[in-house]
Amino acid sequence: MSLLKVENATKRFGGNVAVNAMSLEVNEAEIVGIIGPNGSGKTTLLNLINGIIQLDSGAIFLRGKPIHNKKPHQLVRLGIGRTFQITRVFRELTVLENMLSIVEAGKSDKNNLVENAFNLLELIGLSDKLDARAGTLSGGQQKLLEFARTLMLNPTILLLDEPFAGVHPKIVMKLSELILDMRKQGKTFLIISHDIHTISWLSDRLVVMNEGRKVAEGSPEQIKQDREVVRAYLGV
Ligand SMILES: Nc1ncnc2c1ncn2[C@@H]1O[C@H](COP(=O)(O)OP(=O)(O)OP(=O)(O)O)[C@@H](O)[C@H]1O
Ligand SMILES: [Mg+2]
Repeated sequence: MSLLKVENATKRFGGNVAVNAMSLEVNEAEIVGIIGPNGSGKTTLLNLINGIIQLDSGAIFLRGKPIHNKKPHQLVRLGIGRTFQITRVFRELTVLENMLSIVEAGKSDKNNLVENAFNLLELIGLSDKLDARAGTLSGGQQKLLEFARTLMLNPTILLLDEPFAGVHPKIVMKLSELILDMRKQGKTFLIISHDIHTISWLSDRLVVMNEGRKVAEGSPEQIKQDREVVRAYLGV
């Protein structure tokens, strides 16, 4: 059984069908990349999966159980983590405060939480920035912080929207290596990226979207050769 299954998902905004009868499966400990031109429905698909918006039709399952009527905070508890195309950190809070902000008060021993935050910040190389306000970090560091904050809740599957956009190549490498390490430990990733080079290198499988639909799917090698893909990108 796949970990995540999207079945015939459709979402309209007015007359615009942003996601159109889209189906997708992600297996446990798999890295799946989603590529496609601007406006092809990639972010909308992630928004449907983590419950920010609701389907018009179709279904979404996590380990075979329907999740498409659940709210984002319920989906977080079920193990779905998410980062955003436009990074969502609290700019006025410190790095450490950002890390702790995601955890519900009273849920866990404060010392354990702080220790967990330290360890994750160490892992992503931000442990010397604990007391810095998040707004003073570079764009790439803010993306790393948002990623680490998601890890505070130990998600099963991480939905990452453009994690490499506007990020220094060194940080892209660091983040890619972290993702590969975490997959080895059993975590699953669904990653949107325009960085074809990095996402091809990282992913087991690529899904190509165009105008809300899945137009191709396969290994990065297969996708490179696919005529539909060339069509989606070049519009021919
Ligand atoms: N909340 C919304 N209200 C109205 N239209 C929306 C909304 N969100 C997305 N859309 C529209 O849905 C379509 C798909 O947008 P989406 O953001 O999912 O594309 P994308 O593939 O993530 O694009 P990009 O690569 O530029 O991030 C676009 O036409 C967009 O304008
Ligand atoms: Mg997007």
